[in-house]
Order: sequence, then C-alpha cells, then structure tokens
Amino acid sequence: MGKKVAVLVGSLRKGSYTRMVAKALCGLGPGLECEMVEIGQLPFYNQDIETDNPPAEWTAFRKRIREADAVLFVTPEYNRSMPATVKNAIDVGSRPGGASVWGGKPAAVVSVSPGAIGGFGANHHLRQSLMAVGMATMAAPEAYIGGVSKLLDEQGGIVKEETREFLRKIMQSFAAWIEANGRA
Ligand code: FNR
Repeated sequence: MGKKVAVLVGSLRKGSYTRMVAKALCGLGPGLECEMVEIGQLPFYNQDIETDNPPAEWTAFRKRIREADAVLFVTPEYNRSMPATVKNAIDVGSRPGGASVWGGKPAAVVSVSPGAIGGFGANHHLRQSLMAVGMATMAAPEAYIGGVSKLLDEQGGIVKEETREFLRKIMQSFAAWIEANGRA
C-alpha cells in the first residue's frame, strides 16, 4: 500500500493556480496516495471552544491528519506570508496541548505565485510554523513556483516538460523523505 499524503491547499478560490499545481503534483509521487484535505471550513481557532465537544470540523480535520503518513502544503503567498487559512489549520491541528496531530510527521512545502519571487515569504513563514509544531519538513529541493500563470493551460495542464520534471523531482524527493523519516 502506498503512503497516504494529506494535501492542504492554501487558496479557497475556484480558479486557484495553487490547487492546479497541487493536483499536478499528486499524479507525480511514486507510491504516494494524495488526498485533498479542505481547510476553508475550519472555524478560527479559539481556546474558549476547545472543550470536550469542540467544533465537528476541527475533530474531522484532526482525524484526517492523524491518519495520514505525511502532509504536503501547497500555498499561495498573501502579503509575503501564508494565507490565514493555512495558519489556522496549523493552529487547529496543534491543539489541545499534548494532542497535536503534526508532531514528527514528514512534510513538504510548495509555494506558488504568478509573481517572480514564487511565494518565498509564504514558504519560509510556513516552514517556521512547521518547525514549531515539530514536523519533519523536507529541506530540498526548495519549491518556489513563480510565474505560475504561464506554466499552466486553462485546464490546469502543465505546459512545459521541464516544469513537469521539476514537479516530479519534488514528489520523488518527498517519497524518499517520507520513507526515511515517516512511520513504518
Ligand atoms: C496576493 N498576491 C500576492 N502574490 C505574491 O506573490 N506575494 C504576495 O505577497 C501577495 N499578496 C497577496 C495578498 C492577497 C490578500 C491576495 C488576495 C493576493 C497575489 C496572489 O499570488 C495571486 O492572487 C494568486 O493567484 C493567488 O493564488 P491562487 O488563488 O491562484 O492559488
């Protein structure tokens, strides 16, 4: 059986380039089974509602991450950082204290932007939070996908072979990273 990878996409809009890249990545990981795990429905983290009966969306999300072998974050950049949806998902998964779903799980970060910098700021702010929750985040290859609108056709297909090869390299490296750092 392949390793189960939860894929979190940091954009909620229908025509999202980031989601197109996430879908393209999913077909390229040897032995990896990707599952999109939605984050836009999660109520904002609030300690007052972290009771014995927290919001059902939080519980369902935590269960799906717990069951995954690894997590792939594919995110746009908002104001040189990650979108609030991504940070909220990290916060929700990190609580209640002592029951974080993230600790020790292999992770990879891919940032996506129509701009030239490829979401560098989002990528590294996200890495900082993943360090805080104890994820084993893949160091290389770094993945800043810039100029994305020119890399995809209208159906989200990859235009150039060299782009597909780079995405394949990311996923091959991630598969090896999961093998080396994940649970047996
Ligand atoms: C952006 N965008 C953006 N792009 C970037 O490269 N660096 C940035 O700091 C920002 N900041 C930013 C803030 C906000 C609030 C929005 C809505 C957008 C532009 C962004 O990259 C662009 O809208 C992408 O198309 C968003 O990704 P999706 O939705 O196509 O996946």
